[in-house]
Amino acid sequence: MKECRICKTPIVPFMSFDKMPIANGFLRPDQFDKEYFFEMAVGHCSACQMVQLIDQPDRELMFHGNYAFFSSTSKNMAVHFKEFADLVIGAHLAPKDPFVVELGSNDGIMMQFFKDKGIRHLGVEPSANVAEAARAKGINTVCGFFDEELAEKIAAENGQADAILAANVMCHIPYLHSVVAGFRRLLKPGGVIMFEDPYLGDIVESTLYDQIYDEHVFLFSAASVGYLFERHGLELVDVMPQTTHGGSMRYVLAHKGAKRVSAAVAAQRAKEEELGLHLPATYEAFHRNIQRSRDELVRLLTDLKKQGKRVVGYAATSKSTTINNYCGITSDLVEYISDTTPVKQGRYSPGTHIPVKPYADFRARYPDYALLYAYNHAAEVMAKESEFMEAGGKWIVYVPKVKIL
Ligand code: SAH
Ligand code: TMP
Ligand code: ZN
Repeated sequence: MKECRICKTPIVPFMSFDKMPIANGFLRPDQFDKEYFFEMAVGHCSACQMVQLIDQPDRELMFHGNYAFFSSTSKNMAVHFKEFADLVIGAHLAPKDPFVVELGSNDGIMMQFFKDKGIRHLGVEPSANVAEAARAKGINTVCGFFDEELAEKIAAENGQADAILAANVMCHIPYLHSVVAGFRRLLKPGGVIMFEDPYLGDIVESTLYDQIYDEHVFLFSAASVGYLFERHGLELVDVMPQTTHGGSMRYVLAHKGAKRVSAAVAAQRAKEEELGLHLPATYEAFHRNIQRSRDELVRLLTDLKKQGKRVVGYAATSKSTTINNYCGITSDLVEYISDTTPVKQGRYSPGTHIPVKPYADFRARYPDYALLYAYNHAAEVMAKESEFMEAGGKWIVYVPKVKIL
């Protein structure tokens, strides 16, 4: 039996998605026959509450010089990260020569706002191509995986940080003990750590099962995050719910005793108990909801095909890899997927090999239905697709329920 990565308690999976490919591994036809797959099973640790993948592919298979996800493809996310940066700048930096570190800084979508204000900053980003895109914008970036050793090096070269930030990356890192030990070393006595990730409570409540894919080794809650950091002398001092990615949580941490603990922390933990996030029965129900959601989506797509309707996927998100593979969606049901990211265009989706085409193809000949894989960007997408809707085009969504909009 596998052990919990955080507290070493043996855990059993509550479900398996069977064989899954690398979620961001968009590929060419000559790569189909050597595509990598792993068994994606997920479990809940009843001791420390961490929900986690049982197995995860090696990090070099996911994060490398051809990483396909460029954060800056979403304008709304840039607005979100400007607000995040403004909050840090307004409330958490020392008046004299502050220093800010970000993990998973990608193409600089958040660090750009510190750079623009002349604030001393350092992004840590292991995927060389996106790190290079950030450097090209003048953002200081070290290309590497954050861990205790790298934290030590950063502190030795730059001094300790006022703020350590991370968005949608902490949940990617299986060796979190090393990362958090590094935070403790790198953080000034009065500094803050702020990170956000898709939130377990929302994932379970809205059946956002596509948040489960190779990169997302953990699904965090206030309970599990509090437990992990406590073991390193750090304390969860605030939680701030976010609407990004279908429902996320921003966690604020500090050295133990250094900051007042907001009442929001106890309130969130009470909500988690009410939701039953500590109970195996909750995950059994989650599993049933996932199966139901899959069956409804497959039925809808099959019916539309029988009616001779054209269905195109909208946005080749990493999340869509879970949907396509778990539901068995091939180009038989979804003609192609439209995506604005140049490195994904002309490639095929991981596992079920649906062609990914430029957005121009979508505009040139609207389908009858667009399957909205990027439901997290729904506001941005709807705002720019009025023509598609005026032409009679309809959206298919599967979150929180399968339906036609
Ligand atoms: N923060 C951005 C990017 C999230 S994608 C946003 O929210 O849009 C996750 C990023 O984390 C990827 O660019 C990946 O290369 C990076 N990453 C993965 N493991 C990491 C680690 N150990 N340390 C720092 N970055 C890491
Ligand atoms: P994400 O959901 O993981 O942030 O991935 C977003 C993907 O969606 C990325 O590949 C770019 C694509 N996309 C579009 O194709 N059109 C859009 O309008 C938006 C907002 C994103
Ligand atoms: Zn545990």
